[in-house]
Amino acid sequence: MTDELRQRALAALTDARARTATLVDCVDDGELTAQHSPLMSPLVWDLAHIGNQEEQWLLRTVGGREALRPEIDSVYDAFEHPRASRPSLPLLPPSEARGYAADVRGRVLDVLEHIPMEGAPLTEAGFAFGMIAQHEQQHDETMLITHQLRTGPAALVAPAPPHGSTHGLPSEVLVPAGPFTMGTSTEPWALDNERPAHLRDLPAFWLDTTPVSCGDYLAFMADGGYGDPRWWAAEGFEQIQRHHIAAPLFWHREGGQWLRRRFGVTEPVPRDEPVLHVSWYEADAYARWAGRRLPTEAEWEKSARHDEAAGRSRRFPWGDEDPTPLHANLGQRHLRPASIGSYPGGASPLGVRQLMGDVWEWTASDFLPYPGFVAFPYREYSEVFFGGEHKVLRGGSFAVGSVACRGTFRNWDLPARRQIFAGFRTARDAGHGEAGA
Ligand code: AVJ
Ligand code: FE
Repeated sequence: MTDELRQRALAALTDARARTATLVDCVDDGELTAQHSPLMSPLVWDLAHIGNQEEQWLLRTVGGREALRPEIDSVYDAFEHPRASRPSLPLLPPSEARGYAADVRGRVLDVLEHIPMEGAPLTEAGFAFGMIAQHEQQHDETMLITHQLRTGPAALVAPAPPHGSTHGLPSEVLVPAGPFTMGTSTEPWALDNERPAHLRDLPAFWLDTTPVSCGDYLAFMADGGYGDPRWWAAEGFEQIQRHHIAAPLFWHREGGQWLRRRFGVTEPVPRDEPVLHVSWYEADAYARWAGRRLPTEAEWEKSARHDEAAGRSRRFPWGDEDPTPLHANLGQRHLRPASIGSYPGGASPLGVRQLMGDVWEWTASDFLPYPGFVAFPYREYSEVFFGGEHKVLRGGSFAVGSVACRGTFRNWDLPARRQIFAGFRTARDAGHGEAGA
């Protein structure tokens, strides 16, 4: 591995650890070991799980070092213990969990400095280090969700995001028919489910220029959208009735006004912000009410990456350059999505905004392997989740670390899930007259 790759791996690991520290240092030990929601682990489980995955992959597998704490592997195995059961496990107490993660990291930096990095697929271009930095950032987002579910005064603070405007923007963009390259075979730190690159040919379609806003969503609610089975998938309608759902998670009505709770602060629902904390069923119902539909995963990726003039797919909507604060709202830099129309610097070639950052976007698609998929380096990252149970989310939220953000990155979750930082945008088929643009 070249010095530049080593530097990149070091920076990604260091950034992730700084963010982890922000998430665990702002609350006391009681809050770290408490379970704030049965949907989530105690924060201290995530912390030691981050260290344990790093130990298993970077110290033992890549470094060939002896196991530091083999006896705790099973406690931090996500498949052995569902989240709701994790508080009753013999967890490392906060100070030990911190010490363990720091001890692992110290030794990993030594591995990073000394190991030869060519020839083996796991370390090619520093892949394993990139994978572990992404893993930590993904758990940081998970811990941020725990912070959102936690009640009590705010523990985290961050400045407000930039305030954009939709003035002069068309509400939707026509994506012409034609093939594009989906997925990647060259992005060094892309995970197994993003591979390999392959051609997809799509008919023309229209896509919303921005994510659906809270104001748009309020119109669906005001029109009785939650009460009308015409808009809903049958399982979705059953779910909202069973759980008495009639608004996004964390919203409540008070004095004729909709309020929301956001990281310990209660505030009026901002009409011009992308709607957040809706299930796939709610997104799907809204789209049908609006006379539209959710985009497929392929439509989303074509909109985000296809560069017609150059005849190729970009890494990001704006080009191949890694994200900066001018491109997208990422990395928990702000504790909320930016208003719709923000980030002109992150627009796609056709002018689609906010595809990266702000909110994860539900797509119409089930989470399935691409043709030629090979599980790497372990089946439990993606393969065991393929099938009809999970829906694909794209783009990334304000809580996604930039190392885990790409035009090809695929996230997935159950369609009933609401606590994740997910919103959506809508699409529609293009008529024949429009298709040849
Ligand atoms: C890809 C976000 C669905 O958090 O369950 C973390 C990422 N995999 N540890 C998850 C993951 C193993 C995963 N998601
Ligand atoms: Fe994990």
